[in-house]
Amino acid sequence: MKIFLKTYGCQMNERDSEAISAQLIRAGHSITGSEADADVMLFNTCSVRDAAERKAKGKISYMKKMKLRNPALIIGAMGCMAQRLGESLLAEIPHLDFVLGTGQLHRLIPLLEEFSARRKRFAAVEPSSDVLEGMGAHLYGNFSAQIAITRGCNRFCSYCIVPYVRGREISRSMEDILSEARSLVAQGTKEILLLGQNVAAYGLGGNVNPPPEDHSPFADLIEALDGIPGLLRLRYTSPYVTYFNRRLIEALAHSRTACRHIHLPLQSGSDRMLKAMNRQYTRESYLGYVERLRSAMPDLTFSTDVIVGFPGETEEDFRATREVMQHVGFEQAYVFKYSPRPGAKSATIADSVPEAVKEERNQILLADLADRIARKLAAAVGSTVEVLTEGVSARNPGRWTGRTSGNIVVHFEPVPGLEAGTLRQVKITRAGAVTLFGTLI
Ligand code: SAH
Ligand code: SF4
Ligand code: F3S
Repeated sequence: MKIFLKTYGCQMNERDSEAISAQLIRAGHSITGSEADADVMLFNTCSVRDAAERKAKGKISYMKKMKLRNPALIIGAMGCMAQRLGESLLAEIPHLDFVLGTGQLHRLIPLLEEFSARRKRFAAVEPSSDVLEGMGAHLYGNFSAQIAITRGCNRFCSYCIVPYVRGREISRSMEDILSEARSLVAQGTKEILLLGQNVAAYGLGGNVNPPPEDHSPFADLIEALDGIPGLLRLRYTSPYVTYFNRRLIEALAHSRTACRHIHLPLQSGSDRMLKAMNRQYTRESYLGYVERLRSAMPDLTFSTDVIVGFPGETEEDFRATREVMQHVGFEQAYVFKYSPRPGAKSATIADSVPEAVKEERNQILLADLADRIARKLAAAVGSTVEVLTEGVSARNPGRWTGRTSGNIVVHFEPVPGLEAGTLRQVKITRAGAVTLFGTLI
């Protein structure tokens, strides 16, 4: 069968979709980029904010037209929203053929083949977060590849639906991850991105409390990956700040491959809000981690996630967030307007901050960020940076792009024989709004 697969949501979902595509191809199916061509349309959905659900639902509902034209077309919803809504999604969208939750993704191929033969609508959403099967399949050939090292989350931040739709946290074995990494590198991968809702909790057995200072299986994993010849760079997302103990900071500082960039979700700079969010740190302790990380690795860059308009957020709380962001000097930030998620704890309190105030706070943080990035990029003009080359720029076919270890995108003119996935030095000549421009040396 020809399968069209559309993915919403985070990198975890993208990775799941990649693994599913690889499995489908192995089972003799093919993946098509054309909706009109498809025998099967799969939607890998996200539930993290209401807007994410509306987007996927809107698209699936719209598929009714295609189904009228081609009644044999099979339409399936998978992933986080499928997990959250289950049967009710079948009731809501009559032309939807099946719903497959995150805990049942490994059963996609047999269930799809069975559906194709019998045409009996179903919802398979039993949460089984102990299943790690199928997480390792890849579409090879990219210089950059992702490896999921954990599944699920045990943190239960009060606003967040992820622990409910992805299940309890479970870690894959170090041997599995290493053999996956070795085979990727053997197929040409130069950069690996380790994925998990809380990657730094890797191997801690799902314990919610951060480990003692000298224990970090995640650090052991980084050191082991460092030993793979041919691997040039290692990235990871997202770590929860309180897991950066002495052992992990030292391992990162001494690592050959670990990049000098950390995505360190802050969520809020107000202690009152952090407490209401069930985040296990304070403004002061968060800044303490940043300081320890910076003193071990002075060239680190940071990015973050922030939520504005959490219930009860006052001007003063918001100001605290703004200050912490300025203080850390994040090179990148994703700002989200609070969205109550039915099932998550905070949904039981009123969504009290008006939409207009959320939007205003969002705009203020984005403006701060744009100013800060412009200043940081301007300061880089004249310096020489090392980039991992990625290929032709999506915006300008006459240019190539690469990324610094600190995750800054750099554009440059190609030279004959230039290959993707190589480390090159670039002299920075000009700063754009969010990227740098330079010349290869
Ligand atoms: N596991 C990751 C985050 C996954 S969700 C981590 O903890 O780092 C990605 C981001 O979405 C979160 O960091 C948070 O900023 C945002 N988010 C999650 N739930 C939200 C909600 N209900 N409303 C608005 N933003 C939310
Ligand atoms: Fe959600 Fe918090 Fe887990 Fe991240 S750590 S996935 S924000 S519950
Ligand atoms: Fe990711 Fe959305 Fe699920 S952010 S884990 S795809 S709810």
